[in-house]
Amino acid sequence: MIDGKKVMLSGMQSTGIITLGNYLGALKNWVDLSDDDSIKCFYGIMDLHSITVRQDPAELRKNARTLLMLYIAAGLDPEKNCIFFQSHVPAHAELAWILNCYTYMGEMNRMTQFKDKSAKHADNINTGLFTYPVLMAADILLYQADYVPVGKDQMQHLEITRDIANRFNGIYGDVFTIPEGYVGQTGAKIMSLQDPTKKMSKSDENPNASISLLDDKDTIMRKFKKAVTDSDGFIAYSDDKPGIKNLIDIYCAVTGITVEEALNEFDGMGYGVLKEHVGEAVAGKLVPLQERFKELSQDKAYIDRIIKENAEQAAYYANKTLRKVKKKVGFII
Ligand code: TYM
Repeated sequence: MIDGKKVMLSGMQSTGIITLGNYLGALKNWVDLSDDDSIKCFYGIMDLHSITVRQDPAELRKNARTLLMLYIAAGLDPEKNCIFFQSHVPAHAELAWILNCYTYMGEMNRMTQFKDKSAKHADNINTGLFTYPVLMAADILLYQADYVPVGKDQMQHLEITRDIANRFNGIYGDVFTIPEGYVGQTGAKIMSLQDPTKKMSKSDENPNASISLLDDKDTIMRKFKKAVTDSDGFIAYSDDKPGIKNLIDIYCAVTGITVEEALNEFDGMGYGVLKEHVGEAVAGKLVPLQERFKELSQDKAYIDRIIKENAEQAAYYANKTLRKVKKKVGFII
């Protein structure tokens, strides 16, 4: 609790421009939830997590700033929500170290993201990649978060966060709030447009597989036109038709209608028209966001002020928890 309010925390890695999957699975829900004045929200740009995969320094700096502006452009009010860079709050790295000593190798070995990423980056399986979920646990537990809104792929990390917190509390008393994951009703797992059995990811080598939040309308329409479907020729919402199912999921998440309503709307249509409708809906949602993004990009002084003020605010709350933890484990403070 902060000032009698429940706490929500989430974040994204600052690697590349975020995708429609990141937006529909996470960012859009954050914006919807941030209207609730009974919740104090923290949103991190998780740049420490980003370096678990090799990054170009200039690109990383640029992507991190872009991500902060995309959060704001999507509708997160930085005067109301605390939007901060993870690397600006040293408590994250400090708590992660402490929690590493309360986490087992076997637990980390089971993490599917570690397995996927180490297969993808076989030449750089660093220990940061291995202990990545512990840093994520630190992010969440530092702010005593009650809720963590994420896409489906992060739920395993949330479970391990709860396990670590329960273990620590079991030894030292009630230090951490046990967080709950929150996955939206729609858009929790948006799939690749080129291989609808794989999740949409910004690190996909095929640019047609994902929609970037900064793609212009023509690009969005072209990518949907090329989306891989099937050769049945009829629209149905079924696991046997992952391409069509994904297009319907995207449409529902963007427009807020139910699958049933979407199926009624698309009744009798061909795949080409369906793709056009989905493309139009996505572009309609992203174009205003992109306009706001453009304005923000021109206001360096405003963004710099947000970065500084929010880092101070985040550090204030994070340090409160860190001090408590240090005292509990026996450090002289
Ligand atoms: P990241 O940066 O991979 O993704 C950010 C958010 O987007 C969601 N997401 C998706 N949702 C639906 N469909 C998709 N195809 C899709 N791809 C990504 C993710 O579930 C996530 O919610 N470890 C985290 C970042 C992080 C974090 C945290 C999150 C670091 N510390 C603390 C919450 C709390 C990650 O890599 O997300």
